[in-house]
Amino acid sequence: MSKRVTVFGTGYLGATHAACMAEIGHEVLGVDIDAAKIAKLEAGEVPFYEPGLDEVLKRNIEAGRLRFTTSYEEAAAWGDIHFLGVGTPQRRGEYAADLRFVNSVVEKLAPLVTKPAVIFGKSTVPVGTAANLGELARELSPAGEGLEVAWNPEFLREGFAVEDTLRPDRLVLGVDRDRPGRAEEVLREIYAPILELGMPFIVTDLATAELVKVAANSFLATKISFINAMAELCEAAGADVTVLADAIGHDKRIGRKFLNAGVGFGGGCLPKDIRAFMARAGELGAEHALTFLREVDNINMRRRTRMVEISRELVGGSLLGSRVAVLGAAFKPDSDDVRDSPALNVAGQLQLQGATVNVFDPKAMENARREFPTLGYSASTEEACQGADLVLVVTEWKQFRELVPADLNKIVRRKRIFDGRNCIDPQVWRAAGWTYRGLGRP
Ligand code: UDX
Repeated sequence: MSKRVTVFGTGYLGATHAACMAEIGHEVLGVDIDAAKIAKLEAGEVPFYEPGLDEVLKRNIEAGRLRFTTSYEEAAAWGDIHFLGVGTPQRRGEYAADLRFVNSVVEKLAPLVTKPAVIFGKSTVPVGTAANLGELARELSPAGEGLEVAWNPEFLREGFAVEDTLRPDRLVLGVDRDRPGRAEEVLREIYAPILELGMPFIVTDLATAELVKVAANSFLATKISFINAMAELCEAAGADVTVLADAIGHDKRIGRKFLNAGVGFGGGCLPKDIRAFMARAGELGAEHALTFLREVDNINMRRRTRMVEISRELVGGSLLGSRVAVLGAAFKPDSDDVRDSPALNVAGQLQLQGATVNVFDPKAMENARREFPTLGYSASTEEACQGADLVLVVTEWKQFRELVPADLNKIVRRKRIFDGRNCIDPQVWRAAGWTYRGLGRP
């Protein structure tokens, strides 16, 4: 049955959630304080790149199921099921998460809620946040105990956001065990079309639900850093980490996914989530439990430095005066997100060491320019590689994976390619007279 649903925050998470809730038949109102973003969405434009999301957005706006507003008054009056999908970035100069956006939604919304309602938090938050927000909401709302706060963490991956929202691996709901309310019943109704597909639905307490999310991301980060640590060993021993990953990945207990060694993880989630988790563990007096995450972070950051070192070797010992083409700026393919992107981090370090850097990315150019305005940017792969002494592949976009030597032979000054994602075939490039380097490969 169709419900009225609001979604606060229209970033990667919120906009996707709003559009997908409309897609499964609900009447949805997306809310954001950023008027420019709302104007774009109202016009059926996704303010970022996410494959397939624009169709879902347009279709549901046209069907009249999806609207957007900047008005909290309108949102509070219109619906009694509110999703909270605003960002929880890393605090400046600290590891901990910045909760100002989640707090602010509850501070502004709760006083406007006069009838029983449920707020479902989706943002990734430090354990304990949901309980605090519940208290705050009850205090500020005329509905008092009638305003529930529950937690429904989101596991979507950028690039697969629509698919992950409509067909998630599992749904998790944390409820306030001290205050049995309607949250579970309401969420089962909202997600009925998804649950019908047979998804596991795990209902637990607030703290466990919050922890599920950071535990999942910590595990993924650990898996990537594990294989990158193996890459360091492979480099030292002259072995090949890609073969090693394939071989251990056949063990079903290990699995091949998330074992791609390379320049490491970035993005708006994994790096800041493991740091916020460590910070929170410290507050809880359990920091020892997570000291390994510091190493996970270290291994990850070392990959970036290593890429710069190898680049320097490849151009003959000094980057001064060299031209380096950097293919990729986004933290991963099929995204325009450059938050903590290893690609731009490497590009920046190369430039600081005297290289002329030309970056090209199919979708992330605008965001990259905003974050790193002093880097050189090119309009195409060919332009970026013009006269290059070294070509780096740092984001494994399909068009870079499919590059063949003939595309670049006549353009570059020196035939050297450094594959920071181990995503192109060394044999093909070597056979064409190129120097090929990967990370963790001989
Ligand atoms: C992640 C989680 O996967 C998702 O469940 C959560 O909701 C948000 O955080 P996302 O940040 O979109 O999603 O990207 P993900 O696909 O997990 O990749 C993260 C980073 O790890 C990327 O920089 C990617 O390039 C890197 N990565 C991934 C590797 O270096 N090797 C791998 O094998 C896999």
